Amino acid sequence: ITMKVAFRVNGQAHSLAVDPRTTLLDALREHLGLTGTKKGCDHGQCGACTAIVDGRRMNTCLSLALMHESSEIDTIEELGRVEELHPMQAAFIAHDGYQCGYCTPGQILSAVATLDEIAAGIPSAATRRVSQPSPASPEEIRERMSGNLCRCAAYPNIIAAITDVQE
Ligand code: FES
Repeated sequence: ITMKVAFRVNGQAHSLAVDPRTTLLDALREHLGLTGTKKGCDHGQCGACTAIVDGRRMNTCLSLALMHESSEIDTIEELGRVEELHPMQAAFIAHDGYQCGYCTPGQILSAVATLDEIAAGIPSAATRRVSQPSPASPEEIRERMSGNLCRCAAYPNIIAAITDVQE
């Protein structure tokens, strides 16, 4: 059995027929070939599958594709190009904010969303704290990025990259 769902990914409209059990992550990777969104744990613990869904970051492995009728989804493929990197991508390179690179797409999307959330006065999901004053401290950025794990432990460089973009 398949069911239809229509949403926009990186500004392009897609209509898919999917098994109802298909996660948004698998729809992106397997149906649309957007493999920049990574599958790490596949159960909501690592953040490798982070995408921006209707303006908020989300672990796409935890959500069924069918739940996203009419959603606007942005993935790492649309954030920047090799010729014109997003400032967050450039900062990750400048600060060596990765080692193996597997978690990097999720880290970068989450980092962009983190700074957007801080700028918009959205409280931290972990502490409900609102950044006051902005810019946020490295400690707060670390807390807001706590849903994105890096097995290589490049955390200090990741936080340095995000702090650099914020300033
Ligand atoms: Fe989704 Fe790990 S693959 S949180």
